[in-house]
Amino acid sequence: MNILKKIFPSLLIFSQFYFLFAVNYSEDISSIIYNNCSSCHRPGEIGSFLPLTNYQEVYSNRDWIAYAISSEDNSRHGNPIMPPWPPDMDYSTLLNERYLEQDDIDIFMEWIIQGGIQGDPSNEASFPEFPDDSQIGTPDIILEMEEDFQVEGNFEDSFRCFVFETGYTEEMYFTAMEVRPGNNQAVHHAVIVAAPPGSADNLEDIDDEYGYDCFGGFGPITTTDLLGGFAPGTSPIKWGNGLAQSIPAGWDIIVQMHYAPVNEDMQDRSKVNIFLYEGEPERVIESFTMIDPTFILPPNQITEVYNSLYVSTDVSVVSFFPHSHLIGKSWEVYATSPPIFAENDTIPIIRINEWDFDWQNFYYPEYMLHIPEGYTIHAHAVYDNTSNNPDNPNDPPQYVFWGDGTTDEMFFLPISYVPYQDGDENIYLGSDMLFGDVNLDGSVDVLDVVVLVNYILGNISFDENQIIISDTNQDGSLDVMDIVILVGSILD
Ligand code: HEC
Repeated sequence: MNILKKIFPSLLIFSQFYFLFAVNYSEDISSIIYNNCSSCHRPGEIGSFLPLTNYQEVYSNRDWIAYAISSEDNSRHGNPIMPPWPPDMDYSTLLNERYLEQDDIDIFMEWIIQGGIQGDPSNEASFPEFPDDSQIGTPDIILEMEEDFQVEGNFEDSFRCFVFETGYTEEMYFTAMEVRPGNNQAVHHAVIVAAPPGSADNLEDIDDEYGYDCFGGFGPITTTDLLGGFAPGTSPIKWGNGLAQSIPAGWDIIVQMHYAPVNEDMQDRSKVNIFLYEGEPERVIESFTMIDPTFILPPNQITEVYNSLYVSTDVSVVSFFPHSHLIGKSWEVYATSPPIFAENDTIPIIRINEWDFDWQNFYYPEYMLHIPEGYTIHAHAVYDNTSNNPDNPNDPPQYVFWGDGTTDEMFFLPISYVPYQDGDENIYLGSDMLFGDVNLDGSVDVLDVVVLVNYILGNISFDENQIIISDTNQDGSLDVMDIVILVGSILD
């Protein structure tokens, strides 16, 4: 960073001033790419076809990157295309949203205009250390696939379920269940449930290979709701605040792997990491599923499927997982107050304008989301069963119904919650925030002081998270006392 930018971070707000400086890769671009793109765009990962790990790789692909980060093209996983984040960020605020700031996009474009110069390599941002194993700590139980699974290089998606015995004889309480792919290039995503012991045995015998084929479902008639999973570039959250999930004693864990189309044969041996809750949890997470297996999607039509659920007791929602297949086009989920209320209250939960089967995820509200008793949750999903839908598996379009197959459809929305307690709406669900990290760059230093001074002088505005972590004396307001404590903690 050059010295003027260090002294006047508030200048960054006025992008046009920024461009008074020569833009170079080392100082201005590398941190944007490494912190937002390289988690997937590096060797051995889902975006390895386009590694973005050094100057040369970014320079050679600069126009392609510019297209992906700024495109108005709204046809795939939202707008812009990269980094991938299908939910509509103007609708609701979710945890760990992936996006570039407009400033970052502008400076990337300016870098290209100025000739894409490298600058002094010693000023380059350090490349993040991406953990190979668990993304969230040291697991208490690790279950590994017994054999390698052969992923065929036929450039087709495949779906395979694997059964793991936990050997656990009591009800198991856990704070996270994480799938770690053995082969990041092949594993597109994975989801986990538990089922009564042995209930998938006969399915495993269907063919000679390890595991069994499965697509939208898991096979056994009785399963838990989804317990966790894997999606590229994201880590699961580990519940804090006395929260835990549970599975009944002795149940098997079933993982459904979605293997991405690959053009050479590969092996995968993935693992499930379990993080146990020590002792009796204060609050066990429960789920309900909004589901409609009765819909009919006629060919050459766009059809909306709607489902609602009356909330009979106050709840705090902690996660949701909208799911449809290839004909799915969009989702919108929200809660409304009872019609007898004088003022109509609507609580937006999630909206996905361009549903994309390839980017499904568990989504978490930033803070526990209180839905009061008497409210109704509404879920709308739209299905485009016309030939305008490039993902339509049928050509020409056919009647489509509920089912587990790739060419069937689903309307499936598990929502996890706990009974509401006072103050839940202030419980942040993300990993612990670093107090004093005012500029949210992961460390507490003099730059945070400069940014906080600027805020207190009224030069800049903060988002909710910045306000919380800048309130170093936790008195509910930001003032000079917070600066004193911040400076003190840096000098310590
Ligand atoms: C979560 C993983 C992930 C992250 C983070 C990510 N990408 Fe990608 N990217 C992919 C995958 C997978 C594809 C190919 C499939 C697709 O487009 O969905 C892709 C495609 C692309 C493409 C080709 C797009 C096209 O349509 O031709 C470009 C360019 C790209 N990424 C650049 C970036 C840049 C720049 C960033 C950071 C701002 C980024 N990606 C962040 C996974 C990721």
